[in-house]
Amino acid sequence: MASGYGDVYSQWKADPEAFWADAAREIDWIKPPSQIFDTSAGVYGHWFPDATCNTCYNALDRHVERGRADQTALIYDSPVTGTQRKFTYLELRDEVATLAAVLHEYGVGKGDRVILYMPMVAEAVIAMLACARIGAVHSVVFGGFAAKELATRIDDAKPKVILTASCGIEPGRIVKYKPLLDGAIELATWKPQTVILLQRPQEQAEMIAGRDYDWVELTDAAKAAGDMADCVEVAATDPLYILYTSGTTGVPKGVVRDNGGHMVALQWSMKNLYGVEPGEVFWAASDVGWVVGHSYIVYGPLLYGATAICFEGKPIGTPDAGTYWRIIAEHNVAAMFTAPTAFRAIRKEDPDALLLKKYKLSKFRTLFLAGERADPATLEWAEKTLGVPIIDHWWQTETGWPIIANPVGLGLLPVKHGSPTVPLPGWDVRVVDEASKPVADGAMGSIVIKLPLPPGALPTLWQDDERMRESYLSEYPGFYKTADAGYRDSDGYFYIMGRTDDIINVAGHRLSTGGMEEVLASHPDVAECAVIGAKDELKGEAPLGFIVLKAGINREPAVIEREVVALVRDKIGPVASFKTAVTVDRLPKTRSGKILRGTMKKIADQDPWTMPATIDDPAIFGEIEGALKRKGM
Ligand code: COA
Ligand code: AMP
Repeated sequence: MASGYGDVYSQWKADPEAFWADAAREIDWIKPPSQIFDTSAGVYGHWFPDATCNTCYNALDRHVERGRADQTALIYDSPVTGTQRKFTYLELRDEVATLAAVLHEYGVGKGDRVILYMPMVAEAVIAMLACARIGAVHSVVFGGFAAKELATRIDDAKPKVILTASCGIEPGRIVKYKPLLDGAIELATWKPQTVILLQRPQEQAEMIAGRDYDWVELTDAAKAAGDMADCVEVAATDPLYILYTSGTTGVPKGVVRDNGGHMVALQWSMKNLYGVEPGEVFWAASDVGWVVGHSYIVYGPLLYGATAICFEGKPIGTPDAGTYWRIIAEHNVAAMFTAPTAFRAIRKEDPDALLLKKYKLSKFRTLFLAGERADPATLEWAEKTLGVPIIDHWWQTETGWPIIANPVGLGLLPVKHGSPTVPLPGWDVRVVDEASKPVADGAMGSIVIKLPLPPGALPTLWQDDERMRESYLSEYPGFYKTADAGYRDSDGYFYIMGRTDDIINVAGHRLSTGGMEEVLASHPDVAECAVIGAKDELKGEAPLGFIVLKAGINREPAVIEREVVALVRDKIGPVASFKTAVTVDRLPKTRSGKILRGTMKKIADQDPWTMPATIDDPAIFGEIEGALKRKGM
């Protein structure tokens, strides 16, 4: 079947407002939009400026009212605890309405922020939707971040309430959340009034009287009293959530998502991109702490009336490399979404996919990959192993939904390994040089997107329009800067090759090397430092730190290296995967003092490199090579 993509993309390009007005008919508005886009509002305009709605109503209540009350909405599958739970749309709606009533009782109303610091349990999904129900703005913080990172987010979002659990479960260890949370509140200037904590059987957290409350006790009491909160009317342009993501400094960016545009875009993508039907099972194996979790564990599938899965486990080791196959088979998954690193991990553990033989993936049609560049070897292995189309697609926390993809629902385009395929409607993607001039097909350049961004993309950064302009809009006037580099081929397929800033991608997790450098530099013995993302077979990239010690320090370098590794884990968190620091005498710099991180990366990756013309002292690269060799790298 020929793909309808070309026609649909042209329709959008000819009249974007008519296109999104049409897509918006899939949403149940309280006050439908009479205006589709307001160019004069916000940083670059606002979608659906006069509409009102409620995201939770669209994700739950409308399905309950229209025949899906008994359909499974959410499956919680947790190989790390050996438990499973299923919620129908009706049950999930009631759980959400109950928690929303509790939040209300603790003073949370429209526009108030609530931070979630939660593992992958069903209550995390319930909490997000409960906030949406009463118009509160949630901000989920990934469990792998340490106290200091959490404190930064508390100070920026200023939450009234924090929702948390006693622990997360990583293979072989329990991660106690409460000491991290208490530490973060201690560090933060802003003090939340209330903490509501889910005690898990694996860990009993200590509670602080007058501030901390037991989740189950509160919700049980609300259930006994029949307390349930109704959906609150919010403006389509009101924030649904803030999600912090790595910027080029240690201070994360608070990406804002609105209610109306977000619903319209996700609903459109479920059908036209992912090609699933309401009632089918859609599984995104990520974490609610990331944008993939927000868009495609929670909101996308539920807005669409599909069944979502909250998976608490890993692709390997919980208990083995067959877990993904078990989930797909057992829950009749139609489409799955994960990061290529997960498939690299499975392939390494079970190269011949012997564990797959135990399962029948009869309903499984498509695997979607994103979060990092999908290397062709992993794609080919997945294709051969699963016998279904493997679809790479590219997007960012900021964009909220995919920019470039192979739109399965509109009809699959020929797959080219290494390319996430073509821009979706909404996205006018260009490859340009430093002067904003388009480059020729096949030539590398910076990838930018013509404004306005479509519904679902960030309208701004939390209470910081100026940083929004500065970070994304000022360098290429009239365009949004993605900070990714790549090229387009003569068929119009795009290739995303890497970042143009200091962000690295570690196991699909986005991290700032600048943030890590700030931590290394805070060690009393460190004079200078540089962190690069070195090639890593499993995680794609792994951070590698170089430190120069202050004059006169005669402590053992190996000891200081271990200390800085521990410091990054303590300040940023285990998710940084910062395991290696190398002491060197000097860092290679240009004559104007800029550290030549790009060449250091090539040396660490053992890629061919040439001596930069601007180098201050060429001998330093030899010293770097020597230091890496001594480390066995
Ligand atoms: N809470 C606390 N700690 C966490 C955590 C969480 N929610 N998530 C990860 N960590 C810890 C890990 O335990 C690990 O700690 P360690 O250094 O003590 O081993 C560290 O953070 C790094 O985690 P990760 O990068 O996930 O590496 P891993 O070795 O545990 O697992 C993979 C490697 C490939 C199996 C894993 O990254 C994975 O499952 N990826 C799937 C793709 C994915 O979820 N991508 C997200 C974006 S789509
Ligand atoms: P995040 O905001 O965490 O989703 O990370 C977004 C970044 O991950 C992008 O800017 C890219 O650098 C990278 N990325 C995501 N998906 C892909 C992909 N399919 N191919 C290449 N890089 C990707």
